[in-house]
Amino acid sequence: MAITFESLDSDIAGRTGKLGASKKIIRTPALLPVINPHLMLVTPKELHAMGVEALITNAYIFSQSRQYSERVKEEGLHRLLDFDGLIMTDSGSFQLSVYGEVSLTNEQTLSYQRDIGSDIWVPLDIPTSPDADRTTAERELAITTERLREAKELFGNDAPLAGPVQGGIYPDLREQAGKAVGDLGFAFCPIGAVVPLMEAYRYRDLVDVVMAAKRTIPRSACVHLFGAGHPAMFALAAAMGCDLFDSAAYALYAKEGRYLTSHGSFKIDELTDLPCACAVCRSHTAEELRNAKDRTRLLALHNLAVTLAEIARIRQAMADGTLWELVDDRCRNHPLLLAGYRELLGHNAELEPFDRASKRRFFYRGDESCARTEVLRYQRQLARLRLGNEVLVACEAGHRDGFDDVLFFKPPFGPYPVELKETFPVGPTEIPPWDEAMVRQGCRGIRMLAESHKESRISVSGLRSWHTIFREEVGDAAELVE
Ligand code: GUN
Ligand code: ZN
Repeated sequence: MAITFESLDSDIAGRTGKLGASKKIIRTPALLPVINPHLMLVTPKELHAMGVEALITNAYIFSQSRQYSERVKEEGLHRLLDFDGLIMTDSGSFQLSVYGEVSLTNEQTLSYQRDIGSDIWVPLDIPTSPDADRTTAERELAITTERLREAKELFGNDAPLAGPVQGGIYPDLREQAGKAVGDLGFAFCPIGAVVPLMEAYRYRDLVDVVMAAKRTIPRSACVHLFGAGHPAMFALAAAMGCDLFDSAAYALYAKEGRYLTSHGSFKIDELTDLPCACAVCRSHTAEELRNAKDRTRLLALHNLAVTLAEIARIRQAMADGTLWELVDDRCRNHPLLLAGYRELLGHNAELEPFDRASKRRFFYRGDESCARTEVLRYQRQLARLRLGNEVLVACEAGHRDGFDDVLFFKPPFGPYPVELKETFPVGPTEIPPWDEAMVRQGCRGIRMLAESHKESRISVSGLRSWHTIFREEVGDAAELVE
């Protein structure tokens, strides 16, 4: 059966949705915990009880396992793992990128994934290292694309195949790869080889790579960010339209004695308290958790609870239209995440067409908020206002006689007619006392108004105390008056 994907609420370039495979339907964005059959800190049954609808495991590990390789063929993955949710299998490509070779062909791994009853199969793609030069990235992408074509040819268009998008750190190769998976008819597109970027906190590169891939992957395809990771970066990735995350982080961090939170991780030895509402944290003190015999497992349970809660928070933010606030919040917890956030804001013109029209609110949080998609869209739409010859932009109460039209002013947006006072974004935007960045952005709005209404003469009252910024941004395009 083919993979299906339907999107529901949207926010920025992200969306909530429903992914279907083998008659199972899961809500997205979703986290697929990684399960290694040889070291299960948390069982699939326990995952199910925590609300997990899908998980991912590695077909290569099963195929090489003396304990499981035959048994899984007889029983099938779902029975062996005792999990009747959605199970995705990875091919062994990751092992390929770490160990340099695997002993299976593309056709063999796909047949094996089919035979063990996996719900989503991944071909043997080549995860190109971020250090690879362009020629290598091109060569490896050509092999990956050929294997994807082969997969479609061997198993048919209805097989539940994933089409990984590679291309290293070269945005144009990522675009080419995204187009190729779309042309080949993949409805499920993981973005690959991003683990080394995330491990090195290269979030700016991550944003550029994901934005490039998303530019050409069909909007209707479900996008999985392979190997992500830490819950602190989920909101950022979800804002770009990543629908699935798979994470071994909950277990890997637990083994290193690390305690995840939605905004960073702590060494368990550093904690005096457990700042979390999960069952583990409410039934242990920090001291008890530190010294517990099953500490690794307890940490894994906590790490999972935190990671799943973050996914829930993202879905709620998308329903409310408050994803920018969440991204802003999460990305202020690490300087390189902040760099990634700023990089994303630099792509605002590309994100704007996907953003929704109305949201619950817009909460101004400093300079970065000025580059949000809503500000850009609002200011572009100023050209649509119909105005007379004499226009006043009244930034304060005062006399307004002798004008054909009077507009008001709300930074960071700029001028607005009274009819828009209660509508999004002008109405439900909460701003603190004006600061330089927001006034500057609002003045750009005045300039855009002036530039799109050359026949109107625009006067601005009440901005005297900001005249330097006004001059810099508006120049002679409008006049400051009392
Ligand atoms: N797991 C993490 N990254 C990758 C990737 O690029 N390809 C595959 N198949 N699995 C991965
Ligand atoms: Zn907890």
